[in-house]
Amino acid sequence: MTNEPTGNYIIASDIGSDGKLNTRRAVYTGGLGGHSNNGGGGDGLLSQGSVAVSSTSNMLAVVNAGSSTISLFSIDPSEPSSLKLVGAPISSGGQFPNSVAFNKDGDMVCALNSGEVNGVSCFSVSANSVAPLTQTQRSLGLNQTTPSTGPPGSPSQIFISPDGQNVVVSVKGIDASAPGYLAIWDITNGTLSTNSNTIPVPTGGQLPFGFVPIANEQAFVVADPAIGFNIMDMSGQNRSAAYPIDGQKAVCWAAFSSKTGNYYVIDAGASLITEIAVDGDLKASAVKSYSTGNNTGPLDPAVATIGDKDFLYTLTPGTKQVNVMMLNGAGQAQTVQSLDIAGHARSVNVPVNSTNLQGMATFFKV
Ligand SMILES: *[C@@H]1O[C@H](CO)[C@@H](O)[C@H](O)[C@H]1NC(C)=O
Ligand SMILES: *[C@@H]1O[C@H](CO)[C@@H](O)[C@H](O)[C@H]1NC(C)=O
Ligand SMILES: *[C@@H]1O[C@H](CO)[C@@H](O)[C@H](O)[C@H]1NC(C)=O
Ligand SMILES: *[C@@H]1O[C@H](CO)[C@@H](O)[C@H](O)[C@H]1NC(C)=O
Ligand SMILES: *[C@@H]1O[C@H](CO)[C@@H](O)[C@H](O)[C@H]1NC(C)=O
Repeated sequence: MTNEPTGNYIIASDIGSDGKLNTRRAVYTGGLGGHSNNGGGGDGLLSQGSVAVSSTSNMLAVVNAGSSTISLFSIDPSEPSSLKLVGAPISSGGQFPNSVAFNKDGDMVCALNSGEVNGVSCFSVSANSVAPLTQTQRSLGLNQTTPSTGPPGSPSQIFISPDGQNVVVSVKGIDASAPGYLAIWDITNGTLSTNSNTIPVPTGGQLPFGFVPIANEQAFVVADPAIGFNIMDMSGQNRSAAYPIDGQKAVCWAAFSSKTGNYYVIDAGASLITEIAVDGDLKASAVKSYSTGNNTGPLDPAVATIGDKDFLYTLTPGTKQVNVMMLNGAGQAQTVQSLDIAGHARSVNVPVNSTNLQGMATFFKV
């Protein structure tokens, strides 16, 4: 997503059978990008998940932070870079949306609003319609602004549990005395519970940012630029803990590879990807770190499985590129491509700016 305040575009690339990318087109979302009050740096949305796809319903969702809308597209599975806008962009149910998520069936999308009117709001979606689910608009009650201000005190990511029973949002803390948390609502028959359950980050954590579920557990790996990352355990056994990453500057994004079984957290400040293993007791350990190159400023990652291998795609707005890593096994990631985004954008006259570029997702034909 270009996330430009003059007009937001999705840049779509094909993934080859070798995992490499080939840029195909730029598609207007019908809305405007936006930039938070974050001191003018990258990660203008202070979020993970500003673009989401469903390979079940063949759809793509994207936030237009600057116009407080979300846009839904249907994806042509025979030519996945071909995106067709469903209806018109629809109000996000709040202000400055910065993250979206599909449910497993791909017929519901929830949006996270991070502005002065903040909270969650969900929609029923199909290839030809998108409509608000009226009993899903819930406030986070944050003292925020439009555009949002942060990173501290801003919401980070929204997620719908695969069993369809919960909506989960990460919220960054303000300081050590007011640490961040996960807010969890129950979903029943298209309705969200009135109140959310709040799970604080474990001691040592502070700024829960991007997160991914831990396979076969009720737990998450949660990136945290105050320390490194947190394991947050929802199972009732308290196996939660905060883990430091040496020399971390801004570990804000997280991804999982089912082929290596490991987690990858992304540090925009140190331009570093750290691979993490989590054992059966939810104890985590760093496996290896990989540089994406000085000043690449990596952020949103996405994984794609091709044959028997996973590939990790990481947006590097500092160089207006996508870093492509082949995951040859645990501890064996290898950069195989740095895809240039700026050249294609220039050729189709779509502006891209390092401080605005954000959001990425992979789509699989099924
Ligand atoms: C909200 O945040 C502003 C700016 O930091 C602050 O001045 C104000 O006191 C806060 N309001 C509340 C109710 O906390
Ligand atoms: C679920 O919602 C539908 C539509 O609002 C309603 O007809 C149905 O009775 C509800 N089912 C339950 C179990 O509440
Ligand atoms: C769980 O354990 C962590 C780390 O020991 C601690 O910081 C946290 O407060 C505990 N949470 C609960 C709910 O007991
Ligand atoms: C990154 O910068 C450091 C310090 O300036 C330099 O030593 C190093 O060679 C650079 N690395 C790359 C991959 O350019
Ligand atoms: C890029 O975006 C930032 C933040 O919106 C803005 O300050 C800057 O002028 C833009 N740069 C260009 C070359 O448009």
